[in-house]
Amino acid sequence: MTQQFIDRVKSYQQRVDARLDEALPHAALAPERLHDAMRYAVFNGGKRVRPLLAYATGECLGVDPERLDGPAVAIELIHAFSLVHDDLPAMDDDDLRRGKPTVHIQYDEATAILAADALQPLAFSVLARIEHTPATATTALVRLIADACGSIGMTGGQSIDLAAEGKTLTAGELEHMYALKTGALIHASIVSACLLSENLDAASAAALDDFGKDIGIAFQIKDDVLDVEGETHVIGKPSGSDEKLGKATYPALFGVDESRKRCDELLQSAMTHLAPFGDAAALLKWLARYIVERGQ
Ligand code: IPE
Ligand code: IPE
Ligand code: MG
Ligand code: MG
Ligand code: MG
Repeated sequence: MTQQFIDRVKSYQQRVDARLDEALPHAALAPERLHDAMRYAVFNGGKRVRPLLAYATGECLGVDPERLDGPAVAIELIHAFSLVHDDLPAMDDDDLRRGKPTVHIQYDEATAILAADALQPLAFSVLARIEHTPATATTALVRLIADACGSIGMTGGQSIDLAAEGKTLTAGELEHMYALKTGALIHASIVSACLLSENLDAASAAALDDFGKDIGIAFQIKDDVLDVEGETHVIGKPSGSDEKLGKATYPALFGVDESRKRCDELLQSAMTHLAPFGDAAALLKWLARYIVERGQ
């Protein structure tokens, strides 16, 4: 059973990698160093969780994977851009990502800033080129993904994260920050498939919306636990980075046990939202469990 899910995950990962390869300018195209850095930022071993969530929600709603390639690629490009900026000296100042030197270490700081700058509009160019989809759905996707990326989404969350260093937040404030910095893009991955589904009823849309919110927050709590407990060579990024920076995280403020408990609670709630979909949501359920049980 597990092998069957692993195979499906691998095939979607290969699918999105091929589409990302098509979307990114060739490294031999000038300016070569910039294009090379953009490719380095994307093709260095990411798990592709956000595209996987989009395709799995598509399975749940009967949306053809071909129609999800656009949002899957766009969201992964934005995610890659967010990681490049997140690792910069002005932010988390990390030198390792996915087991390799971060973009500003491998190239230089200016190239890292510019590579991330270029990945973001490329995402919207990909969305603008979507075919065989009504213009209203494409416009809705652009709005969804732009909002999830901007000041009321990931970027806003990153701003709160930096301002919260060394501070004590309530659980509510912390989860609000998580919902923005990490949850927004994860939620958008799921809602992308909803926007492309025909005849989606309001109850199913609301259930998937809630599922996306739960699993987005759980994803960041697990990331924070891995920062405490994971080994650098396994997680592929410097273990203990959050403590060094005095980051406001769930384990730092409430302990690892409480973090695990909250993760499990969110997983249970997420699973409840998927219950009405039965077997159609099998891959989505498997991914939700993977998100809180993963080792990297
Ligand atoms: C890491 O995201 C950054 C967070 C939002 C916590 P992922 O764990 O999805 O990173 P990759 O893409 O697999 O490297
Ligand atoms: C980052 O959170 C979330 C982003 C929006 C990139 P972290 O700073 O904890 O992510 P990692 O641990 O560096 O991947
Ligand atoms: Mg960070
Ligand atoms: Mg970081
Ligand atoms: Mg982290």
